[in-house]
Amino acid sequence: MTVVAELSPCLEAVSSGSPASATAALAPVEPLLPVVGGTTTVPLVDGTQRVYANLDYAASAPALQAVADRVTEVLPLYASVHRGAGYLSQVSTALYESARQTIARFVDAREDDVAVVTRNTTDALNLLAGVIPAGGRVLVLDLEHHANLLPWLRTSDRHAHGHRTTILPIAATVAATLESLAAELAANPYALVTVSGASNVTGEALPVERVVEIAHAAGARVAVDGAQLVPHRGFSLAATGADYVAFSGHKTYAPFGAGALVGRRDWLDSGTPYLAGGGAVRDVRADRTVWQPAPARHEAGSPNVVGAIALAEACDALAALPAGALAAHESALRSRLVEGLEQVPGVQVVRIWPDADEPVGVVTFTVADHNPGLVAAYLAAEHGIGVRDGRFCAHPLLSRLGASEGAIRASVGVGTPSEAVDRLVGALHAYVADGPRSRYEVVDGCWAVVDDTRPLIEVHGLDHLAATAAAACGPALD
Ligand SMILES: Cc1ncc(COP(=O)(O)O)c(C=O)c1O
Repeated sequence: MTVVAELSPCLEAVSSGSPASATAALAPVEPLLPVVGGTTTVPLVDGTQRVYANLDYAASAPALQAVADRVTEVLPLYASVHRGAGYLSQVSTALYESARQTIARFVDAREDDVAVVTRNTTDALNLLAGVIPAGGRVLVLDLEHHANLLPWLRTSDRHAHGHRTTILPIAATVAATLESLAAELAANPYALVTVSGASNVTGEALPVERVVEIAHAAGARVAVDGAQLVPHRGFSLAATGADYVAFSGHKTYAPFGAGALVGRRDWLDSGTPYLAGGGAVRDVRADRTVWQPAPARHEAGSPNVVGAIALAEACDALAALPAGALAAHESALRSRLVEGLEQVPGVQVVRIWPDADEPVGVVTFTVADHNPGLVAAYLAAEHGIGVRDGRFCAHPLLSRLGASEGAIRASVGVGTPSEAVDRLVGALHAYVADGPRSRYEVVDGCWAVVDDTRPLIEVHGLDHLAATAAAACGPALD
């Protein structure tokens, strides 16, 4: 079905420049670290080109320049790892194992913790779900990303490991949510509480240290979904006392297919791996398998050596920033964005709790009476801005926030200049005042410019945009 968007009645009067906004008077903020693609230009529907304003870091962040340089440096040394006898196999093995140590150090792992290289956070949490001791119950809040919800429900449904998972509804404040968590833990024995380190919708979180205190007092362990927290703020297992943390390389400026699960060794040493195969075993006979201890036990198949090295490089680059610099950069951009958005008529920034600590650089908002997909398509086509719309793989939370029809999310990171934020705010002012300049239609569930004539960037393998965009957006409002 094709739906064509209403055109602005005052189409001719629209200017692509920003109306006056509070952000105009603020001093510019430059990127904190150089990223690859930070100056890439994209075509707009009016025939001009603009530097891409990437405001979708929460989904996937660009590679740090240092990461790209490191990958280029190690590729000539790349060879098979672990069981290769050749010189370069030994070099690659040493680089891989050293990357594992760097990744563990970055999240301040304790001496007896283990770091498993995974594909991403989803993979890491599925892995953890498979090693909880039999009968162990899991407590999870209803604000989680599906990656920290579905793995626990799946094991629950299947009774594969005898777990039972409880989804606890969040309360109206952080304080009340912590109380409700404590009450549930006092009433029922749990093996694990698994919480988001920072929401991928609003950037908010419960204070991890408090969750750990409450859970440990009740004899439960704590896993932190660090997909957003780790790249946006960093994380310390030792300081928070959390038992596990999972995070993704592609959100941590190392989009080379690796992520990590770091934490207590015992469950990881004894649990059955959910991925079976070579490298994870000591000895296999027809009638029995002897598994390796962690981490090899959970890294069956050929590991992602380059991905792990890239992630380790990103960890080193972030760790080398002056103390507080990462938080200060995001905080400056986030407040600029929120203050700007609050001045756009009809725009509402979504929050979970009024008493949450300062969120990371992830901001979700709605534009009253306007479809988020249309607004996102307009921002891309007319202003070269990349945001995300939909329900952000957090359907229960979006429903709870009254945004089950979807919303728009802008997220920032080390490569974001304030110009990107200011451009977004200006573009929304223009949209609300005058509507889009182009005509838009829904094709296969996705908003797109009618008769889009933007030229394709010349790169091997790219011969059309529309079909890929539709496949990526899909009708499911994910
Ligand atoms: C909070 C949170 N958890 C988990 C995930 C899943 O991460 P990945 O897709 O890298 O597995 C995401 C991704 O957006 C996220 O934001």
